Amino acid sequence: MSSVRVQGLTKRFGNHAAVFEVSFDVPTGGTIALLGPSGCGKTTILRCLAGLETPDFGVIDIDGEPVFDHAKGIDLAPERRGLGIVFQSYAVWPHMTVAENVAFPLKVRGMGAAERKDRAARMLELVGLKGFEDRSATLVSGGQQQRIALARALVHEPRLVLFDEALSNLDTRLRQQMRMELRMLQERLGFTAVYVTHDQAEAFGLADTVILMNNGAIEITGPSREVFLHPRSAFAARFFGMNVLEGRLLESQSDPRYLEAELSPRLIVRGVAAPEQDLQPNGRVLACIRKDAVHVFRPERPEDATGTIVAASFLGAEEEYLVEVAGVRIQTIGAAVGLQKGDAVCVTMAADEWVFVR
Ligand SMILES: Nc1ncnc2c1ncn2[C@@H]1O[C@H](COP(=O)(O)OP(=O)(O)OP(=O)(O)O)[C@@H](O)[C@H]1O
Ligand SMILES: [Mg+2]
Repeated sequence: MSSVRVQGLTKRFGNHAAVFEVSFDVPTGGTIALLGPSGCGKTTILRCLAGLETPDFGVIDIDGEPVFDHAKGIDLAPERRGLGIVFQSYAVWPHMTVAENVAFPLKVRGMGAAERKDRAARMLELVGLKGFEDRSATLVSGGQQQRIALARALVHEPRLVLFDEALSNLDTRLRQQMRMELRMLQERLGFTAVYVTHDQAEAFGLADTVILMNNGAIEITGPSREVFLHPRSAFAARFFGMNVLEGRLLESQSDPRYLEAELSPRLIVRGVAAPEQDLQPNGRVLACIRKDAVHVFRPERPEDATGTIVAASFLGAEEEYLVEVAGVRIQTIGAAVGLQKGDAVCVTMAADEWVFVR
């Protein structure tokens, strides 16, 4: 059974459709990420699910029960939808202790003091904050406040938890750690999760299924790995940080499994068409390749060089290069090997890494 079913969801602000005819399902205990650039409608969808925003059209079912149905005039209040929400701003209540913050949703639901205390303590242990119960909620670090918000969202054992950029305010190391912990917590408690994020690593790290949004509509959706490795549009390829290069499509001379694209008079690359592309021989094509699928290295003999480093940027464990090959500029990322601007290099790009889209 689906925990969440969204059908034909549309939400306008004035003349602007922030969300347009969006439909998706999340199975019970499943995890989904709404991913996309700023302003594409992610938060609006989440707020519609929570009942904080009234959609203009569509149906939202939670555990088989309609919580919103435009045609039938159903619109359940947020507190009757039985879900937990974690926002980017931790929104812990400063006048309460850590334990009071976490226990608050139980108090609202009329649970007795002893049981509240007990449950809050168990939840705090689960998020690694055992021993912090009596501390003022503002006297803890940002990462700890985020855990308090998490514990508070989960304490009443909601069937569905919504996260809006919940880890964005944390530093890199803490964000990675929380991502792992959240994933384990979700598997352990089994709640259904909808994550909203503009960060692809977060989307892939947290969710089994990714929905990439583009200007209020769904661009592509599928299993995380699939969506990342096989982008089906130039928008998706660019969003995931791939090279997207203009070229002309050719029939492969040597191998019928591949197509070829001419990126410049001296650079022809071999690849495969993304699914559902109407590509015409001799027509314009966009050739996409991941930065980490382009390899640059020093040639053994200078005359073997096929490219030149145009720009180099050191990122720590990795290095990014802009390399020019036969008049075409391509970005690469890989283990830091200390190449410099102006270095002559060999460039290799595997045929099955090129994906052609319209
Ligand atoms: N209350 C509102 N009134 C008017 N316009 C709004 C309102 N809320 C959102 N919008 C608009 O709707 C669009 C989608 O906004 P939304 O907050 O859903 O984007 P988002 O994908 O969450 O972006 P971000 O990654 O920046 O948080 C934007 O163009 C935004 O300006
Ligand atoms: Mg948002």
